[in-house]
Amino acid sequence: MAVSRTNHAEGDFVAQEIEVIDPTDLKPLWRGLKHCLIIGITGSGKTSLLFYLIEKFIENGYTILHRDDGKLQFRYLMPYYPTTIFIPEGCSLNLEFPSELKLDYEIRSYNYRDPKDLIQQVLKGKTKTLTVVVFDKYCKSAELQAKFYQKLFDALIFECMRSSKRKVKLLFSIDELNDIVQPRGESRTEEHKKVSYQVAYDIRKLRKHKVTFLATCHRPNDIPLNVRSQFDYFMLKKTFGTDVYQFIRFMVPKKYVETLTYTVRTMPTDQVLLIDYAGNFAMFHYPNMLRGEGNKIHYQAEGIIRSLAEESKGKKYDAIDLIIVLERSKIPPTPFYKIAEKFGLSKTAIIERFQKLLRIAPDDVVLALQEARRYQKTWKKKAITQKEENNIMFAEPKASILTVSPTNPKIEKTN
Ligand SMILES: Nc1ncnc2c1ncn2[C@@H]1O[C@H](COP(=O)(O)OP(=O)(O)OP(=O)(O)O)[C@@H](O)[C@H]1O
Ligand SMILES: [Mg+2]
Repeated sequence: MAVSRTNHAEGDFVAQEIEVIDPTDLKPLWRGLKHCLIIGITGSGKTSLLFYLIEKFIENGYTILHRDDGKLQFRYLMPYYPTTIFIPEGCSLNLEFPSELKLDYEIRSYNYRDPKDLIQQVLKGKTKTLTVVVFDKYCKSAELQAKFYQKLFDALIFECMRSSKRKVKLLFSIDELNDIVQPRGESRTEEHKKVSYQVAYDIRKLRKHKVTFLATCHRPNDIPLNVRSQFDYFMLKKTFGTDVYQFIRFMVPKKYVETLTYTVRTMPTDQVLLIDYAGNFAMFHYPNMLRGEGNKIHYQAEGIIRSLAEESKGKKYDAIDLIIVLERSKIPPTPFYKIAEKFGLSKTAIIERFQKLLRIAPDDVVLALQEARRYQKTWKKKAITQKEENNIMFAEPKASILTVSPTNPKIEKTN
């Protein structure tokens, strides 16, 4: 980053008034395990700065796990970095772009009820440099969104805990962290209340599990204090409000507070005020993200994830549904045709009911059904190998038969 103490919209204001305490120490940021929070109002350039930093992290050998906030802005990075895009099961994403734009990307689907597998792929280095999780594009329910991110954080911490060996240096990037955590008393939904608590707990653990965290939010007070206190670097874009004033007062020596408050209130999009963990601060200028190429990528997203309440509206379970759940959650699950025989219904009718159940049943039930199915697959595979083994054991012996003829006491070989 080029330090620019004079390149400020208000002429020489900064240069004259602020004795910039420098150098701010950025090396630990690239070494990892120092978390960074970008704060700024809408349109202040948070996402652009986030992407600028992501590029720096990639240059420093990191794999990025990025949460898309629904705008699919990661397209601006796609022309430059191999990308894996994760979209929820049952949803689709079609990208269209001119052929001269040679993109290295892949789209994979993930189980949004249990994103453990997604996290495992990332930690094992089986995804591309820029790995993006898209969820919000397909989901209008704030509650479901909160639940999903709680699971994603949980899976990340749990999977990190399970292995001390790591194939990748991981940066977890969350644009608009304020969608996911809210301060006490301001939770968007009851579910968000639980999530905020859990995420705060998980963020504390990230450092311990060698995951670096980068996030954006609108104002300091958007983020609960126990989460905010986990960050080592703060990058302030244009932002205002008493909480900003208090925040700056808390972070830097008193004599700079007024000037810096004015600076962030009037800051142009290409600048940022960096305050590091030691309370040093500096103004930086950074280039705008190259949007031109990314703008050529057009998309078509299909599919919607509804909350369970919405899905099951007007759809009641009947006795047959309950028995289907019972039979299909057995290990191994009862075959569809057998359940159909029991009720004198067609196999297709039972499969249709089963698929509806997968959409509307509570999470635990769906997981039990999926578990049984997964078990059935391995069980079938085992059964096949067992059958093959048996076939070998009981196959007609093809070996030659030895006979001893009374007339010829020599042993003869017949086939
Ligand atoms: N360094 C920069 N130099 C010049 N223009 C910039 C720079 N960074 C961002 N911009 C411009 O500012 C606008 C807003 O940028 P961006 O989308 O990053 O803001 P944001 O804070 O993430 O907004 P939102 O809250 O809507 O997500 C864009 O048009 C972008 O081109
Ligand atoms: Mg943004």
